[in-house]
Amino acid sequence: MSTHYTATAKLLHWLMAALIFGLLALGFYMTDLPFSPQKLQLYSWHKWAGVTVFLLLIFRLLWRLKNPPPPLPESMPKATQWVAHAWHFALYALMAAIPLSGWLMSSAKGFQTVYFGVLPIPDLIEKNKELGQLLGEVHETLAWLFVLLILGHTAAALKHHFIDKDDILIRMSPDHRKHSGEQ
Ligand code: HEM
Repeated sequence: MSTHYTATAKLLHWLMAALIFGLLALGFYMTDLPFSPQKLQLYSWHKWAGVTVFLLLIFRLLWRLKNPPPPLPESMPKATQWVAHAWHFALYALMAAIPLSGWLMSSAKGFQTVYFGVLPIPDLIEKNKELGQLLGEVHETLAWLFVLLILGHTAAALKHHFIDKDDILIRMSPDHRKHSGEQ
C-alpha cells in the first residue's frame, strides 16, 4: 500500500483549504455589511467560490475512491485512529452540507445562484421567507462547527509533527519526497 498521497490529492487538499478559509472569512464579513452594490458583489463571489468547493469535493471523493489515502501509523492506538477517521468523515460531510444549505437558502430567499454570472443553477425549492431564514441559521451554525473541526484537525496535524514526530503532516506537504528522503 502507498505511503503517501498522490500529487492530485495534495493539490485538492491545499486548494480546497485555501478556498474554504476564504469562504469562511468572507461569509462572516459580508453578512454584517450594510446593504450596498459592494455587498451584493461579495455575496456573488461567496456563492461562486462555494459552488466551486462543492464541485471540487465531488471530484476529490471520486479520486479518493480510486486512490485510497495511506494508512495511519501503526504507532497510533486503534481508538485514536477511529477518532481520526470519524473526524475526516465529519469534515467531508460539512464540505457537502454547507454549500448545499447555502444553495437551498439562496433559492428559498428568492436569489437564484448564477455561477460566475453565466450559468444559472436551478432552484431546488420554492421561495419561502421563513424557510430561507431557517436555512441561513443552519448555514451559519454548520460554518461555526466547521471552524471548530478545522481547528481540531490543524492542532492534531501539528501535534503529530512536533510532538509525535511522525510523517503525518509531511506526507501531505508538496515536497514530501524531499523531506522523507524518497526518490
Ligand atoms: C464550503 C462552502 C461554504 C462555506 C464554508 C460558507 C460559509 C459561510 C459563512 C461563514 C457565512 C456567514 C454566516 C453568518 O454569519 O450569518 C455564509 C453566509 C452566506 N452563504 Fe455561505 N458558505 C459556503 C457555501 C455557500 C454556497 C454554495 C452558497 C450559495 C450558493 C452560499 C450562500 C451564502 C449566503 C447567501 C450567505 C449570507 C446569508 C445571509 O445573508 O443571511 N454559501 N457562508
